[in-house]
Amino acid sequence: MGTPFIALLEPTPLAWERALPPASQPASASIPRTFLDAMTVRSEVFVQEQNIPQSNEFDPDDPRCAHWVIYASVNQTIAPAVTDPTTGEVIRPRQSETKSLPIGTVRLVPFPHPPHPRKGGVYVDGELINTTTTTTPPNGDTPLPVQPLTSQEQEQARRASTIPTFTPDRPTTLHDGREPYVKLGRLAVTKEFRGRGLAGQLVRTAVDWMRKHPSYFDPSPAERGFEHLGMEQGGTLPRWNGLFCCHAQVDAVRAWEKSGFQVDQEMGEWMEEGIPHVGMFLRVQVEPEAKQV
Ligand SMILES: CC(C)(COP(=O)(O)OP(=O)(O)OC[C@H]1O[C@@H](n2cnc3c(N)ncnc32)[C@H](O)[C@@H]1OP(=O)(O)O)[C@@H](O)C(=O)NCCC(=O)NCCS
Repeated sequence: MGTPFIALLEPTPLAWERALPPASQPASASIPRTFLDAMTVRSEVFVQEQNIPQSNEFDPDDPRCAHWVIYASVNQTIAPAVTDPTTGEVIRPRQSETKSLPIGTVRLVPFPHPPHPRKGGVYVDGELINTTTTTTPPNGDTPLPVQPLTSQEQEQARRASTIPTFTPDRPTTLHDGREPYVKLGRLAVTKEFRGRGLAGQLVRTAVDWMRKHPSYFDPSPAERGFEHLGMEQGGTLPRWNGLFCCHAQVDAVRAWEKSGFQVDQEMGEWMEEGIPHVGMFLRVQVEPEAKQV
């Protein structure tokens, strides 16, 4: 494998058919190549390997996200060598070409976000589906208590499933419930390329980009309207100040820790698409931005 390179796709409208795999998306949809490649990796890892339904892989956050894709330059045989059957002499040598193969991806979801997941909650396609008071983890351990949603939280969750608005969240160990944070997610590296530090490279790239563009997602009242900015609660304009979150699969916590993320004990554990998850945070120093001229 040659030196991998990373491409960035900034937020962009996406016409994606949720039920279809990347290779079957209609050509007329003009989907950016980088996004198609991100979805190819995500489908291979999350849909084929982890059995998440294809239709749950794309979500309404994708168009507002920044996406990074890491590529490997690989040499592929496009036609095998042809030999003379009697003499064994090569008549035509093997033909090969170097291709850029998408092998990993991560996305960055800007704020605002839906409320932090419930401890012991069970989520499918971003929706809380368990309304009972306990849930049994897959390893057969003691059932986890699930606190029922208050009517205010139900309303928040309903609004969050469309366009989230700035509403205060419950405070946790590493988040005061109010500070705007960006969320890294859908981190995936295809099986044969794991264990070479590529996930770390993707996360570092996204974190560095955000540090250099700290105001990229800061909203303006002119665009969103004051009622969405939490100003009615006496808040100030939300400004990102270096806080990242991720909802990590429990098996991938080590990979996130290698990039500096810490588990938020108070957020607890919950199930997303049948996989146990925990919340993690990372705080970085933002870099002053060059003044626009
Ligand atoms: C998690 C994942 C993205 C890591 O990709 P990767 O390129 O292999 O990760 P890196 O090589 O950068 O590894 C970073 C560190 O995490 C460790 N690590 C990576 N995956 C791990 C796993 N599944 N379990 C335990 N440790 C893991 C690595 O050993 C490495 O630590 P080390 O340098 O001390 O050995 C990859 O395993 C993957 O795609 N898994 C399936 C999808 C998934 O779980 N995504 C995470 C969603 S939150």
